[in-house]
Amino acid sequence: MSKISRREVLVALGAVGMTGCLPVRENPGASLAAAGVKVAVLGDFPNVGSSKNLDLSGNPAILVRLAKPQSQGVSVGDIHLLARSTVCTHVGCIVGAPVNNQVGCACHGSVFDLETGAVKQGPAGAPLPAFKLQIRDDGIYAVP
Ligand code: FES
Repeated sequence: MSKISRREVLVALGAVGMTGCLPVRENPGASLAAAGVKVAVLGDFPNVGSSKNLDLSGNPAILVRLAKPQSQGVSVGDIHLLARSTVCTHVGCIVGAPVNNQVGCACHGSVFDLETGAVKQGPAGAPLPAFKLQIRDDGIYAVP
């Protein structure tokens, strides 16, 4: 029986870990249809912190109701919404659910501010991008 080196085990674990990752996309909304994609209705967000996971043409994202307006989001009355990519900008794992307005990546420990997308803790070096939203009569749309 041959002995497996520590290096071979680490390489194998790295390869397995990478298969669960997605490529990082610079402009995740670019692939959306020009007319936009209906993603939700206002009733889906009864409270601050209410959220919905989205798949925007293959781009995982989260749509969340915030307590206050955010420049990358949209507002109607006292409802403030933001859609942010959930693809970690380090090497593309999917970040976890929001906790205290932050999302974390279990792959290597990056933490992002949900409202701004800013990196709070590396190794990620770029913020999580936001998707553009529009609120129309019949719902909330993600638009390119
Ligand atoms: S892929 Fe998210 S921290 Fe590495």
